[in-house]
Amino acid sequence: MASTGSETKRWRVRASGPLRGQVRVPGDKSIGHRALLFGALAEGTSTVRGLSGGLDNAATAEAMRQMGARIEFSGEPATGVTAKIAGVGLDGLKMPSGVLDCGNSGTTMRMLAGVLVAQKFGTRLIGDASLTRRPMRRIVDPLRARGGHIAGVKGAKEGEHYPPLSVAPLLPDEKLTGIEYQSPIASAQVKSALLLSGLWADGPTAVAEPTLSRDHTERMMLALGVPLQTMGPMVVLDPEEWDRRWDGFEWDVPGDISGAAFIMAAGLLVPGSEIVIDNVGTNPTRTGILDALRAMRAPIFITPRGDAAGMEPIAQVVVRHAPYSPTRLGGELVTRMIDEVPIFAAICTRAGGASEIRDAEELRVKESDRLSITANMLRDAGVDCVELRDGMTIHGGTGALRATRVTSHGDHRIAMTAAVLGLASEGETIVQDVGCVDTSFPGFADLLRSLGADIVEETA
Ligand code: S3P
Repeated sequence: MASTGSETKRWRVRASGPLRGQVRVPGDKSIGHRALLFGALAEGTSTVRGLSGGLDNAATAEAMRQMGARIEFSGEPATGVTAKIAGVGLDGLKMPSGVLDCGNSGTTMRMLAGVLVAQKFGTRLIGDASLTRRPMRRIVDPLRARGGHIAGVKGAKEGEHYPPLSVAPLLPDEKLTGIEYQSPIASAQVKSALLLSGLWADGPTAVAEPTLSRDHTERMMLALGVPLQTMGPMVVLDPEEWDRRWDGFEWDVPGDISGAAFIMAAGLLVPGSEIVIDNVGTNPTRTGILDALRAMRAPIFITPRGDAAGMEPIAQVVVRHAPYSPTRLGGELVTRMIDEVPIFAAICTRAGGASEIRDAEELRVKESDRLSITANMLRDAGVDCVELRDGMTIHGGTGALRATRVTSHGDHRIAMTAAVLGLASEGETIVQDVGCVDTSFPGFADLLRSLGADIVEETA
């Protein structure tokens, strides 16, 4: 897996000639977490290929190791990491000897919480400075409502729960109950925490969300024989007739569309570029970025290539530099491209006119406040950009972008957005603190360099 990322690294980025070539991006981070988790809970051995090798997935793997699963990684991020997992079965988790460190990964913490509230042993989940600022009440409340003993600590917002999370054991005669939960936010992490806890519950788990968030957990559960029914943004897991087990499996993780979005953006923004990206995951709950770009008449071509394991569709994506129109982004499209909003804002800087992004207030509680940091970055680059409560307006055009000096705020997607913007700016852009990129996209700068980008990495 990637290095710890603890050393301070920075990038010096300059406008380069056309970016051209054919690449693959690292495996999907969301699917990777789930494959590792479901492999650790399987009875028997699983093989998961095409993992990103990123630190977030490594945190999930390490937590499952601490609870008894054996997980061995081989291979390199550039060509895909393989995990061999000896699972312990649903009744086989053991108490870890120390805290479970989720690092920077909200998905690790929230999904693990769903598993841990169902156990007869207690645990404590910690995270890095960024994760420690992220709200956890969204999982604490519904997990408590079904009998889980879980609490976070107080923090910035009254009534909120923040990490570390403490999970007390269920008593010998206690079981989680069934639950019908209407989630106020469209969140795959909340939905997954509830579905995972439902694997051990004494009754059905029904979750409805305002719009359908990424459904990788549902697809994987269905593929493994978990009794699940989905109806649009509703899902029900009823374990009554189920033997509560699954066998080891073989899994291929598709390329991460959220990572591919940065490469697509580089192709759109840098004059003369044409980039082919193979093996991109195109699960419809994740393809908002492709739909948004098509609505802008951006030159992007998608060729379906069948399904990877677990009914996850994949495609080849080709992107070229050419003019495109501004757009208005909001509603369910935002849910389907929630992680792509910062790089989408960078793309909007070159659309001929005013674009508007709304309904994206969730971005304020990601690895950083992505609305405010992205809007500031665009303004520093000389773009007319106004931050709104739930989004921003961006006046795009052809005027030169100014090179900036940006810090990532420990947020991988901010670092990558800044670098891509730098490729289309005049002068030298400096992106500070880029070690965080290893959480999801190890080798990002190398991959861009292989296409012709001028990025120098320095270690301070
Ligand atoms: C994820 C869900 C999303 C997303 C995150 C990964 C997942 O978070 O932003 O990067 O793998 O379930 P929310 O559930 O908070 O929307």
